[in-house]
Amino acid sequence: MEEIQIVSTCVVRASSNSNNGITHTSQNIEMTPWDLQFLLVETIQKGLLFKKPTPQQQNNLIKSLNSLSLVDHLKASLSRTLDFFPPLAGRFSTTKNPNDNTITSFSITCNNSGAEFTHAIAPELTVKEILESCYVPTIVHSFFPLNKVRNVQCVTKPLLGVQVTELVDGYFIGCTMSHSLGDGTCFWHFFNSWSEITRGFELISRFPTLERWFPQNVNPPIYFPLELDDEKLDVCMEMPIVKERVFHLSKENVSKLKAKANYEMDTKSISSLQAFLAHLWRCVTRCNRVNANEEVILNIVIGTRTRLDPPLPEEYWGNAAIIKPIKVKAGELLENGLGYAALLINKVVASQNYEEVMDSYRRWVENPVIVSKKSLFVANRLSISSSPKFNVYSCDFGWGKPVGVRSGMANKDNGKVTLFRGVEEGSVDIEVCLMTSTLLAMENDEEFMEFITV
Ligand SMILES: *[C@@H]1O[C@H](CO)[C@@H](O)[C@H](O)[C@H]1NC(C)=O
Ligand SMILES: *[C@@H]1O[C@H](CO)[C@@H](O)[C@H](O)[C@H]1NC(C)=O
Repeated sequence: MEEIQIVSTCVVRASSNSNNGITHTSQNIEMTPWDLQFLLVETIQKGLLFKKPTPQQQNNLIKSLNSLSLVDHLKASLSRTLDFFPPLAGRFSTTKNPNDNTITSFSITCNNSGAEFTHAIAPELTVKEILESCYVPTIVHSFFPLNKVRNVQCVTKPLLGVQVTELVDGYFIGCTMSHSLGDGTCFWHFFNSWSEITRGFELISRFPTLERWFPQNVNPPIYFPLELDDEKLDVCMEMPIVKERVFHLSKENVSKLKAKANYEMDTKSISSLQAFLAHLWRCVTRCNRVNANEEVILNIVIGTRTRLDPPLPEEYWGNAAIIKPIKVKAGELLENGLGYAALLINKVVASQNYEEVMDSYRRWVENPVIVSKKSLFVANRLSISSSPKFNVYSCDFGWGKPVGVRSGMANKDNGKVTLFRGVEEGSVDIEVCLMTSTLLAMENDEEFMEFITV
């Protein structure tokens, strides 16, 4: 396999201690159950693929920040971006309960310890190979720093790592962020802000809201027992039994699936997302030849910002999401149509109102549940992550929009599904990590492939 070469790795700190008008910056930020639930899983790893800038574009960029090279320019702009996101340059701190030393609390210490910056080259790899190979080339995993790091390890490891990998005709900018620091919304808020500063903005367009949300009667810090079970920590993706592939759905494919699902159930309430997830779920179940009386599970992530009263702002900078399983017998899923499966998803999403979200929050405080990677990847289960709602193609670093988006190896195993918006408006890319045999069956499944654009 082709290899990448690491040119250099360094620490990048925020450029100043002034907080650029951010009103709330405390040195120490307490963490909520929504943050703590992810301590034992891995980070968020997403990256963008760009064509190389023209020499003219590159010169203009470099001049704008008096840098020597594009990589130096990206380092300098990262440093200035960290001014607005002090948690990203911090570390987690732990405190033992003074009355009971079997329980611990976690917080974020914003002390500008710094983020990790890596410069690498993949001298033989082209943009086309990444975008057009049938399966995602495994070399993409090495385009991300801090591989295999668990969120809990960010007491000593950086909470953010970025890697700029130079290809023959492009760049891949990969970011690794601790998932206990924030969710996908936060991740893309940072990524977009960094691109703005790199393009020459003085200030970022949207400031993060750094104060974490706690309901009345819940007073941080929250202490809980944390078992660092080695077995739990060592589950890694088994390559090459699983492979990754990106299925592209055009705007037309998505809207036809949505219309079909709603028509079948005589409703208007099924969303595009619910319709294409139902399409995927039924196909994977069919291709895996699951026995009719076995249970299949779809784990979905439900955002909680808009479910609180008053809602949290989109800029709330912390995790605001919960994982919900949807369970059904394989036979029931396959004997009924697309609309039936989509409505199952729709009902679970709709059930998560303010009261439900608050109940699950309080239940967590009373009885903390830390998600393990093992619990996400068991037989007959698909785990959905990320969202086509995230604006990934607006991350323009000054020489044009990205031409693709890919995720790293974090939290991947058989059954992991990562959703992205597609390059063309309204289209969707579904990145799946599945057994090779399942992927081959999907490719030959006419009912599925009818709605896929190759
Ligand atoms: C920042 O805080 C972390 C966690 O408490 C600590 O380990 C680290 O040494 C601190 N770094 C600096 C530069 O103060
Ligand atoms: C899926 O989209 C492609 C490209 O737009 C189109 O050629 C194909 O007919 C679509 N299939 C369906 C069922 O919408």
